[in-house]
Amino acid sequence: MVGEAGVGKSRLFRDFNAVSRRGCMVLETFSVSHGKSFAYLPLIELVKNYFRIQNQDDERQRHEKVAGRMLILGRTIDDVLPSMLYLSELGSAFQR
Ligand SMILES: Nc1ncnc2c1ncn2[C@@H]1O[C@H](COP(=O)(O)OP(=O)(O)OP(=O)(O)O)[C@@H](O)[C@H]1O
Ligand SMILES: [Mg+2]
Repeated sequence: MVGEAGVGKSRLFRDFNAVSRRGCMVLETFSVSHGKSFAYLPLIELVKNYFRIQNQDDERQRHEKVAGRMLILGRTIDDVLPSMLYLSELGSAFQR
């Protein structure tokens, strides 16, 4: 969303967020101005925060965290796990 300073962008998202919370899980993420050239950065941050992945985690640890959390959610992980692991690995590569 693009708009002049103070026009109400943050407020609109805050209100939308409050309404959306009824009955479903809402995940929030942020973008930073120095990350503009890397379109996936906010998504990577979202995935890493949600799965509590640390930069120093190796592949096995990331795999455990992602797979464990997905199983707790009661989801079939086979189709999503590779994408989540890929994003978490991208995130670690970006931090190095
Ligand atoms: N629909 C609205 N009704 C009443 N107040 C509003 C509304 N939309 C925005 N405001 C108020 O206007 C002020 C600026 O809004 P907001 O912070 O959302 O703007 P912004 O577009 O995110 O600004 P910036 O570009 O500086 O981040 C805030 O105090 C907010 O509460
Ligand atoms: Mg704002």
